[in-house]
Amino acid sequence: MPRTVLVCQHETCPKQGAAAVAQAFRNQAPKDVEVKSVGCLGQCGNGPMVLVLPEKIWYAQVTVGDVPQIVEQHLQGGKPVREKLYSKFHPHKQSRHIWLIAIGLVVGLLGLLLCLIASQTYYF
Ligand code: FES
Repeated sequence: MPRTVLVCQHETCPKQGAAAVAQAFRNQAPKDVEVKSVGCLGQCGNGPMVLVLPEKIWYAQVTVGDVPQIVEQHLQGGKPVREKLYSKFHPHKQSRHIWLIAIGLVVGLLGLLLCLIASQTYYF
């Protein structure tokens, strides 16, 4: 299956600049990549939504300024652009944040515990 870039052109995505995003992909994508304007991709409000097939990589809130990086890094280099991945379908972006929050909480609790121990030592 040839690689295809689908750009939603339904209702909310065009209001968020999807027509310009589709045109930017048409201008910059490699010749062997097909760019299609399509109907709703079912993720309204997170657009412009872009879906790259056949690998099923979803991008959200894509701007014209994001297109050169997606073209160069993903369509030509084979590595999806992590910062623009749609977290609903690519949750690793969120899980990294959850780990950072968890580590922050543990460090904070350890600091609090040390403060409590130090304050008890001081008074006794
Ligand atoms: S309007 Fe673009 S995903 Fe529905």
